Amino acid sequence: MSHIPVLLDEVIEHLAPCQLSTVFDGTCGAGGHAKAILEAHPEIVQYTACDQDTEALCLSKATLAPFLAKVVFYHNNFSNPPEDPKLFDAILLDLGVSSMQIDTSSRGFSFVREGPLDMRMDVEGPLSADEIVNRWDRASLERLFREYGEERGARKAADAIVMARGRRPFRTTLDLAEAIARVLPRRGRMHPATKIFQALRIAVNRELEVLKEAIPLLAQRLSPKGRFLVITFHSLEDRIVKESFRDLVKGGSYSLVFKKPLAPSRREVVQNPRSRSAKLRAIEARPPEEE
Ligand SMILES: C[S@@+](CC[C@H](N)C(=O)[O-])C[C@H]1O[C@@H](n2cnc3c(N)ncnc32)[C@H](O)[C@@H]1O
Repeated sequence: MSHIPVLLDEVIEHLAPCQLSTVFDGTCGAGGHAKAILEAHPEIVQYTACDQDTEALCLSKATLAPFLAKVVFYHNNFSNPPEDPKLFDAILLDLGVSSMQIDTSSRGFSFVREGPLDMRMDVEGPLSADEIVNRWDRASLERLFREYGEERGARKAADAIVMARGRRPFRTTLDLAEAIARVLPRRGRMHPATKIFQALRIAVNRELEVLKEAIPLLAQRLSPKGRFLVITFHSLEDRIVKESFRDLVKGGSYSLVFKKPLAPSRREVVQNPRSRSAKLRAIEARPPEEE
């Protein structure tokens, strides 16, 4: 399935008042947001398209073909922005995984497609899901599932993993999903392993730590009146964005672009169920004389 950019109209609307020369797209993915921003802002001189996944960057190269003269592809973590340009008129983070990453079974993100227990967005990353599932002790697994999965059955899941791997190590995503489905109930339409997989993915990619350190660092790279937009997909990352933006606003050099986070319209959720938990927050850098 191709990736449908989430909250696209809202992103475009809240960048509309800005004159954009430089943009940092920290999570370029398939380039859906990037293409729309480049179309809406012909004045853009340099669009830095960053992703820690080389496969995503290859896809975005195809999507962004008409704009290649303006786009600099940057394979890195968004917590490591390039030195040049110094300031960005807009920064966008659209967090989490893309539909392509989930649908590519060899990446190991899906509990319905058989693949290796991997889940690294950057395939050079040091930690894979295999290491966690087969090596972490019972208490660490339980804490991970409770804190990063907000899973009520964290203890049961950890017990089941430790018991099963004593007989034979886990090899594939389906091995794991089946072991979890034997001990946790299905909740509504949600697969019993959904939150366990979410927790593993967050830990493998250090998603929350990276976000916490990246927000203040990226905010410093905004030009006066530059805007920083972040789209989150679950409460753990949304809380980090909310609190980090609040601290920046308290410091006096930034203001909120809108008070309450924006959620997708009902129509968007129907067209793209992946958007259902999305939230958009944004800050603007105050020009020095207003501080
Ligand atoms: C939801 S997708 C982005 C989709 C994109 N906005 C589009 O419209 O096609 C998230 C992308 O961000 C990348 N990503 C997630 N965390 C990252 C990080 N810390 N640094 C760089 N890229 C990251 C993932 O590899 C994935 O390709």
